[in-house]
Amino acid sequence: MMFPAIIGHRGVPHLAPENTMASFKLALESGADGLETDVQMTKDGELVLIHDELLERTTDGTGLVATHTLGELRALDAGGWFSPEFKGERIPTLREFLEFVSGRDLLVNIEIKSGVVLYPGIEQELIALLRAYGVTENVIISSFNHYSLVACKEIDGAIKTGILYMCGMVNPWVYAKSIGADALHPLFYSVRSETIGGMKDSGLLINPYTVDAPRDMRNMIGLGVDSIITNYCDVLRRIKDGD
Ligand code: G3P
Ligand code: CA
Repeated sequence: MMFPAIIGHRGVPHLAPENTMASFKLALESGADGLETDVQMTKDGELVLIHDELLERTTDGTGLVATHTLGELRALDAGGWFSPEFKGERIPTLREFLEFVSGRDLLVNIEIKSGVVLYPGIEQELIALLRAYGVTENVIISSFNHYSLVACKEIDGAIKTGILYMCGMVNPWVYAKSIGADALHPLFYSVRSETIGGMKDSGLLINPYTVDAPRDMRNMIGLGVDSIITNYCDVLRRIKDGD
């Protein structure tokens, strides 16, 4: 694989409804080298892939993910909001996703969501499933909740973690190393000629998000990042291939 790797953010969400199996499959067909997704926990302790804590934007349900059972969530439509073609897409379970990626030569970035709702025990359950499906080597667990990343490392020191952060952190690589992280997942604005040297010298992986404009993609390629997390993996593929 030529670097930087192309990571499809929630799949390829301009072509298929985000965080659905249809979107993950289409992302790979569109040239992604890997997939990013968001994990949350149901009321009955199952792990599901959905970005928002609330169901309204990307399903025909209402209320919090956390107050629904897996059975209730699986009855929802997660594709019709995007277009009639995708009506009937379901909120994927993490198991379904891991079954799909298992055995493929793919990078996988699983973000533990952190917002208003906390999911006690999500790190343990996530790592147990990664092990069960033999998907640990190519995975980076990321989160804006860095306590979650520390918890992952306590469970399994070999699991790779990446700190998600926006702008304004001074020497984030020093901090990232202090919590045992393997990767920096910065908002791409903070990857610049002034900061790239420190990032690279740290030896940490540099995986900026969410890089959607061709000019920014070219800039990230020029700075030598390891992966680019993008909503437009098809566009980045064409740029990388020089088309
Ligand atoms: O992994 C980068 C990105 O996914 C973080 O933000 O809100 O799109 O999940 P968000
Ligand atoms: Ca995410």
